Amino acid sequence: MHRCLGSAGEKRHIALNYLIELSCNLDAALLLSPANMLSSAPLERLAREVRQSYAARYGTDPTWVVAAPGRVNIIGEHTDYNDGFVMPMAIERYVVVAAGPAKSTGNSLEVFSSATEGDCTIPVGEQLSDNLPQWGIYVGGVLQEMLAAGYPCGPLQAAIHSNVPLGAGLSSSAALEVATATMVEAALGESMDEPEKAKLCQRAENVHVGMPCGIMDQFSSAACQADRLMQLDCRSLDTKQVPFTNPDVTVLIVNSNVKRELASSAYPIRRGQCEVAAKQLGVPALRDADMAALNKMADQLEKVVYRRARHVITENARVQDMAVALESNNWALAGELMYGSHDSLRDDYEVSCDELNLLVDTAHQIGSGGGVIGSRLTGAGFGGCTVTLVETDAVEDVAQRITQTYKTTVGIEPTAFTTRPAEGAHIVES
Ligand code: GLA
Repeated sequence: MHRCLGSAGEKRHIALNYLIELSCNLDAALLLSPANMLSSAPLERLAREVRQSYAARYGTDPTWVVAAPGRVNIIGEHTDYNDGFVMPMAIERYVVVAAGPAKSTGNSLEVFSSATEGDCTIPVGEQLSDNLPQWGIYVGGVLQEMLAAGYPCGPLQAAIHSNVPLGAGLSSSAALEVATATMVEAALGESMDEPEKAKLCQRAENVHVGMPCGIMDQFSSAACQADRLMQLDCRSLDTKQVPFTNPDVTVLIVNSNVKRELASSAYPIRRGQCEVAAKQLGVPALRDADMAALNKMADQLEKVVYRRARHVITENARVQDMAVALESNNWALAGELMYGSHDSLRDDYEVSCDELNLLVDTAHQIGSGGGVIGSRLTGAGFGGCTVTLVETDAVEDVAQRITQTYKTTVGIEPTAFTTRPAEGAHIVES
């Protein structure tokens, strides 16, 4: 990986991305699962499409178009709610919203979503109605929190469009929340600072959706930068933007297209186990513990609690080590850290599943000889996606081999695509 491909490499990346998604989707077209139907349209096209559907619905052009990306986490899983470290990047998949003033009065949003083919009207300031569709709760939750923070949306109408795979661990919900907040910013001509915006969106999910998520997803969608991984300290919310510009390395995302029901119930249980561990260790959060302290207490901790804590402590260290590996172009170390993260999530944190293990094992077997740098599950786990760093020259072949093996063994069509680190939420047009 020494050659510099420059803009030719960039063009090839786009072509490859298209080819991979096309070839992996050809057979899948018959399955028609929502994930593999999603397009990889560039942002300009998505923005054009949402503008058109807004105009078709409301008979006028939108005043604002905003976008917020999904994210993939390169390393640092289940560390955010332990005040620890994460290293995500935004992906070239977005929720886009076209909006304009509505004729009604007060704070309310009339909105429809072409991603879910539904619509609803959300009065803001009252209790959120029980009749809202699930996606409407994410939108309404953010509007309520914006109002409480002094950002009333006024009467708005909007159209939502998205190509972030739904329920795949790529933060489609956080992208929807952050896009909603960005729409209100655009309408008010205000700009919140990124940590404030991320925390507000996280609160919307915690309070209104009832999902006790950490800060990583909303922060990524709000604050990631193009060509950068974001090293985030989830306690101080300090960020370090780590350049990720080597054209010879490509981020490959493979969606297992399975989602285990356990995902939503296991998450709060894991959080609770981490809190128990921190309490028994006498620290505010597991971020403040190290392996020596944990091992000293090993006899007094329940075995499962010990293993959960070991994952968090070692994963925090892996994020720090990854930053060093990337700075020094040490791809062998970067790969080891990714496999180490996956093993720890599988064995100590127990959030993997057979399908994700198969995707990672296949990548590992192809190995550095076949152009694979490293691979791991990404996101909360129990299905969803893996993230694999691959030498750009080999990415098409690697994607084919992983998806073929998976399809033959599991009988489900996976979906694969490549992405560069994308820009966080922004106003596309106002
Ligand atoms: C979900 C949550 C995040 C984070 C990850 C696991 O994506 O929303 O806050 O905890 O799981 O790393």
